[in-house]
Amino acid sequence: MSSSPRASASPLFTPRRTDRRAVRATRDRLAAARARARDAARPARRRTERGPDTDLRPTHPASGRSGPASARGGRLALPEHRMTTAVAAGAYPFLAEGGLGAHGIYIGQDVHAEAAFTFDPFQLYGRLEGFTNPNAVVAGVIGMGKSALAKSLALRAVAFGYKIYVPCDPKAEWSVVAEALGGQTIALGPGLPGRLNPLDAPAKPAGITAGDWATEVRKRRLMLLGSLARTVLGRDLTPMEHTALDVALDEVVILATESGTTPLLGDVAALLASPDRLDAASGEPTGRLGRAAEDLAHALRRLVHGDLAGLFDAPSTVAFDPQAPMLTIDLSRLGSTGDDTGLVLAMTCASAWMESALADPAGGRRWVVYDEAWRVMRHLALLERMQSQWKLSRGMGIANVMVIHRLSDLLSAGDAGSRGRALAEGLLSDCSTRVIYRQEADQLAAAGALLGLTGVETQAVAALTKGRGLWKIAGRSFITQHLLHPVERDLFDTDARMHS
Ligand SMILES: Nc1ncnc2c1ncn2[C@@H]1O[C@H](COP(=O)(O)OP(=O)(O)O)[C@@H](O)[C@H]1O
Ligand SMILES: [Mg+2]
Repeated sequence: MSSSPRASASPLFTPRRTDRRAVRATRDRLAAARARARDAARPARRRTERGPDTDLRPTHPASGRSGPASARGGRLALPEHRMTTAVAAGAYPFLAEGGLGAHGIYIGQDVHAEAAFTFDPFQLYGRLEGFTNPNAVVAGVIGMGKSALAKSLALRAVAFGYKIYVPCDPKAEWSVVAEALGGQTIALGPGLPGRLNPLDAPAKPAGITAGDWATEVRKRRLMLLGSLARTVLGRDLTPMEHTALDVALDEVVILATESGTTPLLGDVAALLASPDRLDAASGEPTGRLGRAAEDLAHALRRLVHGDLAGLFDAPSTVAFDPQAPMLTIDLSRLGSTGDDTGLVLAMTCASAWMESALADPAGGRRWVVYDEAWRVMRHLALLERMQSQWKLSRGMGIANVMVIHRLSDLLSAGDAGSRGRALAEGLLSDCSTRVIYRQEADQLAAAGALLGLTGVETQAVAALTKGRGLWKIAGRSFITQHLLHPVERDLFDTDARMHS
């Protein structure tokens, strides 16, 4: 056994006849050499990692507090008893929850059961009673980790073959995630080259007749135009205005088909603004339709000449890539002014473009994330579009995730009994999964009533810390701590600017 620095395996071989002590010493050296080799192969970064986030470190050791504070007085000593989770749930019905099984995407820890918590809406569908749809809503005050949860879900879901779509990202926080996954980001804003034509007709999915598909495309376009007009006008359209939109769209589509181009919003706005052409197209000799469309023409003008000029009124500069794992639309350059309407119009156009691109039922399992969705909750037209999109999405294998602050964001859509309120409540009941992060004290009662929380659950919601949420899944409840991988923590850090 020489101590020469040359790399050689010979000192690790044990000659046939050696005593036990020599064999043991050689074995120890082999183990040490293996450990060194393992360390050398590991990237250096791993060794500098700290433990869990300071927020997540337990306050007390697993054995509980020490000394008199443990409240055990050292006197209570129960015999140890082991049982299965199923039996425990029966024996302690209000303490232990049997769990949802081990299928799906790892989220973190079930705080009560101290078990791993996994979630996959497509796995639960049909397996869990009352789980009627794959959609989820995440609600909580700012900075509690709602976006981080949605991003983790997205990032981890890609490993399960999901594709992720973020139709509007008003804070540009998803772009880094898309980049890390090899996805695509389309940034829209004044001075940027990106353009989306929301009237793009998506490719016809296999198995649908050309006639049916044409009807579907027309319906989507009409709905989009209606939403845009209503958002700007701030009121419902009159029957004459509906007719005018109908007629204008059909005329523009005929002209575009003749010239082999795609219709543009500007074409529709121009037609609405010329009463003679509109009346001629409708075969209405009295000229009433042209006059009735005046408001509409001005409403659409904002998209063509106003602050959004050009963005949604030109052929799309990007093609939808159905193979990309993630696609996000960055709208952070818009809506920095106090007026939300510009952002809402942009969201409407961007999500219409994306949703029509997702209309292929053979597109696989997809997740559409509406981060910061509370911004649009007050706009009836957008809510309406969202709801009809959600109705369609189940048949297409799409799960929607909506992120809001307060549950009362949903109520701000209208007074009790109003159409807006009904729409918002419909959206909520279309979410079989509700994740509640901490709510402000004055919001607790409303949240409890809206979600049917028990008193204990309401109290728990008031005390939640960062990354910890009450998950209501089809009537079952879990308190779950979302755990971030260090790489995710760096990637999702929205506090970075606050630290520096
Ligand atoms: N489970 C978690 N563990 C540790 N840090 C987290 C966790 N969830 C979120 N954070 C951090 O908290 C900050 C705020 O999170 P974010 O998701 O942007 O909040 P929200 O979207 O609710 O306003 C981010 O910097 C994020 O990295
Ligand atoms: Mg957020």
